[in-house]
Amino acid sequence: MRTDTVDHPLAATLLSTMRDARTDNATFRNALADLTGILMYEALRDAPVVREPIDTPVAPTDGIRLAAPPLLVPVLRAGLGMVYAAAELVPQARVGFVGIARDEQTHEPVPYLESLPADLTGLPVFVLDPMLATGGSMRHTLELLVARGATDITAVCVVSAPEGVAALAASGLPVRLITAAIDDKLNENAYIVPGLGDAGDRQFGPR
Ligand code: URA
Repeated sequence: MRTDTVDHPLAATLLSTMRDARTDNATFRNALADLTGILMYEALRDAPVVREPIDTPVAPTDGIRLAAPPLLVPVLRAGLGMVYAAAELVPQARVGFVGIARDEQTHEPVPYLESLPADLTGLPVFVLDPMLATGGSMRHTLELLVARGATDITAVCVVSAPEGVAALAASGLPVRLITAAIDDKLNENAYIVPGLGDAGDRQFGPR
């Protein structure tokens, strides 16, 4: 599986803000949105484009647009904080939703929502989830996408655990990973260490 870790001072400072336990919810949300923009730049670096003639106020020239507007799929709840930033960069994108809770005893994903176009053939898909921990939620999401014909899938995650990266690679599912960091490990509660805590709680407050 192709894995790209974004190495940029601005990404590192935004991630540090998110990691800091003193950061309040609003500042965390802003940092997540800004970092999502940087990750999306990288995720779209090799996106196919088409040329089309345009006129500047001065002369005709060649313009560029994305060949295929992508589908953005935030994984609720934590992926919500990424979707507006991603859509701002790619305004023509469509948005689908997957909702997955986490069983706090077993750490297994518990799906509760699936709202996706029926046919994803030929569509580039970007799955937005700040945390790639065990990989269970991401794997479930990828299976839903592949069942609808998706073959060009990018997982955009802020922090990844080595266990989650290995699980995705072992799944054989067609996915590329863009992340700002691969951390040390998971703890006994399947939280990423050092990580940033619960990405949903950090954005929206504890449940
Ligand atoms: N989900 C989170 O929000 N944080 C983790 O550390 C792991 C999973």
